[in-house]
Amino acid sequence: MPGINSDPECIPESVSTARSPHTTADERGVPGRIILSADEIAEIVARLGREISVDYSDRHLVLVNLLKGGVVFLADLIRQITIAHHIEFMKVSSYGGGTESSGSVQIINDLERSIEGRDVILVEDVVDTGTTLAYISDVLALRTPRSIEVCTLFRKNVIRHKNAAIRYVGSDIPNVFVVGYGLDFNENYRHLPYIAELDFPDAQLK
Ligand code: IMP
Ligand code: MG
Repeated sequence: MPGINSDPECIPESVSTARSPHTTADERGVPGRIILSADEIAEIVARLGREISVDYSDRHLVLVNLLKGGVVFLADLIRQITIAHHIEFMKVSSYGGGTESSGSVQIINDLERSIEGRDVILVEDVVDTGTTLAYISDVLALRTPRSIEVCTLFRKNVIRHKNAAIRYVGSDIPNVFVVGYGLDFNENYRHLPYIAELDFPDAQLK
């Protein structure tokens, strides 16, 4: 399949064989196999919320969310965090409209408030190549926060990231392009309550 990197070694055993019911024919890529159900995602988010609440109980926590993919995750995560915290948004682009990372990152919208002296957690929907994360971490580190950590709901390329400093990982997922729970393909499918692999019925799709 063009543009899809699949490594069978990275497919967790829990991946469901159920098909997504949202298979409309009006897009060239359509959601297929469900990777994680809404219930499974809810359990993961609850666990992350508990961990962050314990680790940051005496800190000035700011969650920096990367739009737009991370917005569904953030909305659920903050309701699982039991300590005081602020939220900030940043919009970056690394994919254009396709399914492969372009390797370059651009800031489209910056933070509203200063993070100087704050304990920052970058909230990411999915870490793939790690390009976005590395770039944003470097940019934010220049603003002298007290600390910066990363919380990603999904992580691909587990082997490549083995030594990377991602403090909170919701779940490792296969190295396929996924949609749902905030993640899009050309702005579609963010509303799905689960995440599903994107199928490309048209083999000529580039
Ligand atoms: P990275 O820079 O390669 O790590 O890519 C991270 C960003 O690319 C994420 O914040 C997502 O917005 C997007 N992305 C990566 N993989 C997927 C995917 O499977 N579906 C939708 N968006 C993705
Ligand atoms: Mg995206």
